[in-house]
Amino acid sequence: MSMMRAVLATGPPARALRMGERPIPLPLRPGELLVRVKAVALNPTDWRNIPLAQEGCGIGCDFAGVVEERGPQLRGTAPAQGDRVAGFVHGNLYKHQGAFAEYVRTPADLVWSVPPNVPFTAAASIGGIGGSTAAQVVFMKLGLPMPKPGVHTGSESTSGPKPGFVVWSGASSVGQYASQLARLAGHNVLVTASPENFDYLKSLGVSAVFDYRDPDAPAQIRATAEREGGPGVVCGLDAVSAEGSTLKAIETFGPRGGHLITLLPVNVTGARQDVKVESTVVYTVLGDAFRLWNKQFDANVADREAISRWYRVCGELVGKGDLRPNRLRVLPGGLPGIEAGLELLKSGTLSAEKVVLEI
Ligand SMILES: NC(=O)c1ccc[n+]([C@@H]2O[C@H](COP(=O)([O-])OP(=O)(O)OC[C@H]3O[C@@H](n4cnc5c(N)ncnc54)[C@H](OP(=O)(O)O)[C@@H]3O)[C@@H](O)[C@H]2O)c1
Repeated sequence: MSMMRAVLATGPPARALRMGERPIPLPLRPGELLVRVKAVALNPTDWRNIPLAQEGCGIGCDFAGVVEERGPQLRGTAPAQGDRVAGFVHGNLYKHQGAFAEYVRTPADLVWSVPPNVPFTAAASIGGIGGSTAAQVVFMKLGLPMPKPGVHTGSESTSGPKPGFVVWSGASSVGQYASQLARLAGHNVLVTASPENFDYLKSLGVSAVFDYRDPDAPAQIRATAEREGGPGVVCGLDAVSAEGSTLKAIETFGPRGGHLITLLPVNVTGARQDVKVESTVVYTVLGDAFRLWNKQFDANVADREAISRWYRVCGELVGKGDLRPNRLRVLPGGLPGIEAGLELLKSGTLSAEKVVLEI
């Protein structure tokens, strides 16, 4: 059996990582691809969920690379051998899976085609967890219209005041992608961040940025969103998802109330009843059943279909520059460099940067 290098959990339960070997995931099942990994991106879930992993589990979710082999029963439209693709797998859970490896096995409908003008590192940063969570929030949870392949999104041509979309933590990876997708869907995007990121976030198309450390930020966002006589903030994302951030995000909503998505389960009490608060878990888009946070998640066909629709348009938007990757921090060292990258993420010192490594 051919072996490959991979970052594995050492446990049980896992407290550390090690460079190891596991079999190249062959043979492929119907509808699957084997991808030679060229770059990976790191996410908070990669280090947070290490204690959930058993000895020998594959670590890592986001990958970009080249199709090495196609499984049986794939249609002609599926990526061909040699094509450039990106996506994510459920890391830290299975011995046969994990993106921090030389190869990953993935269903063909769960990758998007990476255009030639997009480096693998940038593609991995969209991935992946960041871009897919944003797509899940904006299109599946909040129901904003998904751009269609080959159709100009036309977000700038909408006349009259646009509905407001708030992103609490606009500098976060998911926040940056959600802001761009909400703008493409015709919303007026207002976000919070540290002042040094204001100009960068405006360059991504958000209309206004506010300092989340300013206690007056929620009132300022609400006033700004309602200034032109529109409905104000009607939906949004709390990408921090602690009780304090969720309450502040709720305060920004206009007189109609609306719908706010959190990235972690948050129990908010005493909040406005006209703002629905709901959490999301990106792994459901992979379509398989799994267990997380002591909760069972059933196989979710609808989420998987929706994300594969998104993946059919994602590459086009990225290639045209309509969806821009996060600012990259490219670390050296390949697979053995990942542990240092996870420590950097864990330190909380990064600001509006995505850690990526070439493999
Ligand atoms: N439910 C899911 O499926 C799912 C999916 C993806 C991520 N997540 C979770 O969502 C969170 C965000 O993940 P990510 O990868 O997007 O984050 P990230 O890129 O690591 O976020 C870093 C940014 O967070 C901002 N930040 C830190 N503390 C803040 C605060 N109190 N208020 C506002 N902004 C703050 C900082 O902004 P400044 O630099 O401007 O200060 C920093 O740039 C993590 O907890 C992650 O585990 C959940």
